[in-house]
Amino acid sequence: MTRHFLFLLGSSRANGNTELLARKAAEQLPADVTRRWIDLAEHPLPDFEDLRHDSDHVRPSGDHTATLLDATLAATDLVIASPLYWYSVSASTKRYLDHWSGWLRTPGIEFKKTMAGRTLWGVTALAHEEEEVAEPLVGTLNHSAAYLGMRFGGVLLGNGSKPGDVLNDSAALAAAKTFFAQEPPLARFPYEVPSLATP
Ligand SMILES: Cc1cc2nc3c(=O)[nH]c(=O)nc-3n(C[C@H](O)[C@H](O)[C@H](O)COP(=O)(O)O)c2cc1C
Repeated sequence: MTRHFLFLLGSSRANGNTELLARKAAEQLPADVTRRWIDLAEHPLPDFEDLRHDSDHVRPSGDHTATLLDATLAATDLVIASPLYWYSVSASTKRYLDHWSGWLRTPGIEFKKTMAGRTLWGVTALAHEEEEVAEPLVGTLNHSAAYLGMRFGGVLLGNGSKPGDVLNDSAALAAAKTFFAQEPPLARFPYEVPSLATP
């Protein structure tokens, strides 16, 4: 089956470290994989309006929300490329994730069923040297994938403050070479014990 990678760029600046690192990882994808890059700054989403207990959401059309929904539904592999902002995803990335809540309740999309089994990946750049400070971002993506029944490929982390710094992070560049080559497992919430294989 042909894989379709959607890269969602969540930085508040162009050509930043997160995008550079994501592009390094994407270079390694096999030729038959399609790639689409969408910069969330160029497709600003409206604030999410919570209608869950009021009325059904209506499928968007002709706007940025529609573009992002259609691109998401078409992706077998969704790559959230967000810098680490206050230890989590950027605001534009978070707003995109909030819209999932509406899409889950939009008739005719079957968002959860469609996304189940597909893969969520993360790429992030952070200024902090100690990578464990990115745990809230990793948890956000892992748990969101688990909620949708998706696979989770983990988060490719790179260090840097000013644009281009990540190109000096040799460990990140090495990790980028094989990042998308993994076969990611289904995402699990921390309280879920992987079921034991029956003999
Ligand atoms: C609003 C904002 C919040 C940030 N928060 C963090 C943070 O919590 N931890 C961290 O290590 N770096 C933080 N940084 C630094 C960025 O993660 C770092 O500069 C990164 O390289 C930016 O990625 P980009 O070049 O793709 O935009 C923050 C930067 C900004 C602008």
